[in-house]
Amino acid sequence: MDKALTRPAVVSRVSDLIGYTPLFELCRTATGSRLLLKLEQFNPTGTAKIRMARQMVLDAEERGLLRPGGRIVESTSGNTGLGLAVVAAERGYTFTAVVDHHAAADKLRGMKALGAELVYIADEGDQELATAAREEFAEKLAAESDNAYFTEQHNNPANGDGYRPVAHELDAALDGRIDILIGAVGTGGGLFGCGGELRKSVPGVRIVGVEPKGSIAFGPPAHDYYQSGTGTPEGATIGAMVDYDLLDEGVKVGDVEAFATARALARRLGLLIGGSAGGVVYEALTRMSALPPGTTMVALVNDGGEKYMDTVFNDDWMTARSLLDPDVEREVEGLLTKLREN
Ligand SMILES: Cc1ncc(COP(=O)(O)O)c(C=O)c1O
Repeated sequence: MDKALTRPAVVSRVSDLIGYTPLFELCRTATGSRLLLKLEQFNPTGTAKIRMARQMVLDAEERGLLRPGGRIVESTSGNTGLGLAVVAAERGYTFTAVVDHHAAADKLRGMKALGAELVYIADEGDQELATAAREEFAEKLAAESDNAYFTEQHNNPANGDGYRPVAHELDAALDGRIDILIGAVGTGGGLFGCGGELRKSVPGVRIVGVEPKGSIAFGPPAHDYYQSGTGTPEGATIGAMVDYDLLDEGVKVGDVEAFATARALARRLGLLIGGSAGGVVYEALTRMSALPPGTTMVALVNDGGEKYMDTVFNDDWMTARSLLDPDVEREVEGLLTKLREN
């Protein structure tokens, strides 16, 4: 592919604004290696997840599982729900989001603003991540309601399919010159949907998955973590899209490093990225100086930092959870400064 994909000059649906997100060169080494960020926060709702939300709804319609006037039900940490809320509004469905208080408050407020019905699985004040309980409840709710469809993002191939266009966008923008694709792994849809498609045109591309320390897709030990929307907590089923055959490396990044990176990028460059993206960028940055000359690494940035003003970018919240570490922030800023000098 030699031509960057572009969207029509005028569109009439919010979902027509999905995709064609920009690439941002975060740094370039003296040996010509570069780290490019695919800024998925430039999608409507500020996250990549609206890509898969639309795909899951279109797929359900095509398969006759969702009929006019029906109800969409999903268990969500917020970003999938924001996407489903938009698509439901556009296509005349009601949307019920099964949520917990671990989700970023702004995502919950956003879903409500977009007309979603929110069903909480835990009481106010209980900030525990409740992925497994949420899913169980969503399944039951959909089964008990008439003309309702549980999109079941962890186990729905349309989730991965929704990210195939990301591969086409990357291929077109970089003329196939991509050596490493690195991204966060929750359901696995984003990294493996894009990665699987990219392997078709760029067979040698290396795929690196990042999950929070404490998440279990890349092995134990399991413990709580604060990176929102990503990873697989203990008790939850590893997403069907997590394709270990496609994965070259699965790594873990702690909350402290992930959040320090998001904060450092904001302060040093004016670029707001979310906490899971902070983990991905931390891992990518620390690999840069060891890469063979001329390597192009693309990091998928799932969402922007705007939704995390109450958490990652709030010093009190960070301090109360022993997540604030100025030394790590300085280390990341130093790395950025050094790598951006070239
Ligand atoms: C902020 C954020 N990061 C990472 C992920 C993980 O993406 P995926 O489920 O495609 O693996 C999600 C998914 O909801 C997310 O919301």
